[in-house]
Amino acid sequence: MKLNIRGKLFAVSLGLIAVSMLAGEIYLRPAVETNLLDRIRDDLFARLSLVEHAARGQTDLDHVHWDALADELGPLAHGRVTFIDADGVVLGDSQVSLEGLAHVENHRDRPEVAAALAGGERSSTRNSATVHERLMYAAVPLALPGGVRGAARLAVPLDEVDAAVSRLRHILWASLGLVLIVAVVLSSVAAQMLSRALGRMTEAARRMAAGDLAVRTRPAGTDEIADLGRALDAMAGNLTTTLTALRTERDLLEVILESMQEGVLVLDQDNRMLLVNPALRATFSLGPDAEGRAALELIRNAELQSILERARKGAGAITGEIEITGPKPRRLLVHAASLPPLNARSQGLLAVFVDVSEIRRLETLRKDFVANVSHELRTPITAVRSAVDTLRLTLERDPTASDRFVDIIDRNAQRLGALVEDLLDLSRIESKEYRPDVTPVSLRALSEQVLSLLRPRIEEKTFDVGNEIPVDLPAARADRKALEQVFTNLLDNAIKYCGSGTRIRLRAQQVTPGNALRVEIADSGPGIEPRHLPRLFERFYRVDSGRSREMGGTGLGLSIVKHLVEAMGGTIGVDSTPGRGATFWFTLPPG
Ligand SMILES: Nc1ncnc2c1ncn2[C@@H]1O[C@H](COP(=O)(O)OP(=O)(O)OP(=O)(O)O)[C@@H](O)[C@H]1O
Ligand SMILES: [Mg+2]
Repeated sequence: MKLNIRGKLFAVSLGLIAVSMLAGEIYLRPAVETNLLDRIRDDLFARLSLVEHAARGQTDLDHVHWDALADELGPLAHGRVTFIDADGVVLGDSQVSLEGLAHVENHRDRPEVAAALAGGERSSTRNSATVHERLMYAAVPLALPGGVRGAARLAVPLDEVDAAVSRLRHILWASLGLVLIVAVVLSSVAAQMLSRALGRMTEAARRMAAGDLAVRTRPAGTDEIADLGRALDAMAGNLTTTLTALRTERDLLEVILESMQEGVLVLDQDNRMLLVNPALRATFSLGPDAEGRAALELIRNAELQSILERARKGAGAITGEIEITGPKPRRLLVHAASLPPLNARSQGLLAVFVDVSEIRRLETLRKDFVANVSHELRTPITAVRSAVDTLRLTLERDPTASDRFVDIIDRNAQRLGALVEDLLDLSRIESKEYRPDVTPVSLRALSEQVLSLLRPRIEEKTFDVGNEIPVDLPAARADRKALEQVFTNLLDNAIKYCGSGTRIRLRAQQVTPGNALRVEIADSGPGIEPRHLPRLFERFYRVDSGRSREMGGTGLGLSIVKHLVEAMGGTIGVDSTPGRGATFWFTLPPG
């Protein structure tokens, strides 16, 4: 049975009442009764001694006389007065008539009478055989005429005692009843107060458990419930502090993980993803539901699998490189290490992914560059050397043949010069210090200037060159010298790689006012095959290296142009249809 506080308090008071009632019945009632009887007995003896005193000094033993005396003294003593002679014969009795005395049995054996006749005093309680009532008797010795010892006896009915005891019992029950009512009221008031206070605590504790740690009980008083309230408040305070600290730590960790360029992956012991940071999510195009799924199911990569397996087995960190294919191919450096147990059963694994594609690309570029430069330098030097050797031999036989070899030497020396010049340009432009000196530049005026410098070569090959750049085109923001070099290089290419009579057109426009300007240099020459287009702007890249070299080209022109355009804030590109010409275009910010 489930009892609430009120029920328990009531049960306790009921128990207390029952115990006190039992105690009343067992101890109080008999004690009161004994006390009453004692008092009645004392009183009885006192009255009896007066009766005995009054009866002293009688001169005869006549029944008539003694009965009359008993009848007289009985009402005075408020009791039944009996005189008994030495043999136990009743001489007189206040409640028995004179005639009746003859039928009264001998009283010698009545305990109190026997004691009085023997010279003592005694009382006893019993039902009277003579008057049929519960009576208390007291008897004392009485000096009868002739020096004989008789007894004087006084008896009172005990109804009084019984009435007193039953009155007492009534009072007891009534007061217990009253106490019961008071107990019910008090226990329910106490329970009400207690359960209200406890209810407040329970409500507060429930809200705290639900996560509302701002709630406080703020108890008044010093009792145990107030102590409980204070303990709850302190707990909420401590929890708030701890949670705030944990939250700050978690947020910091989250921010760090989110802002990391490196991919971070944490796996549980079944290789399921526990944590994936945004960088890694982007690298492997993982969806928002990646956490909780098997890593190797989403990232299918044999190299990664082997690195993770080795990291799980080994004690230290494992480093390896993996290659990922797809729309954005990448080379990733992976550091993997097993983590100390995350919880009782799970042994975690941490893997950090660093994108090294750019580093590897630059390494390859540097290697290629060194190889290319060496190769480019070797060719003209070999040519100069062999020309010098041949010149030396021929000069001995035919001094007039020298012109051809001097030409070769001159041409190659020029190529070497151009190559060194281009390399210097490139390294200057590529260096971080290079800042184009931008000013508003009129594209029409600048292109005219470049064309006039190239005029002799144009006329030599009878090109049909047209400058269609509008005269009123808004100025571009550019570095004059750099832009000159861009035009020169692009026009130089057109002149170099197109046959006689080719059409060359210079165009420029501003698609929307205030936006970038777009410049085109279009020719109707041989064009470039699509497979070359993606690499055309790389250093030393030439479509037909033999022919280009023959033309004195180094393969650096377009890469210089690209760098210059980009340094000025523009972009560059090429469109071409083989056999129908090529169109190089670039953009520049408005001036
Ligand atoms: N207008 C064009 N028509 C056809 N092919 C072209 C044209 N412009 C450039 N090319 C091709 O692009 C390649 C790269 O040109 P780039 O200007 O970078 O080098 P280059 O002309 O050989 O050397 P440099 O410009 O340093 O003298 C050239 O080798 C050539 O094959
Ligand atoms: Mg060129």
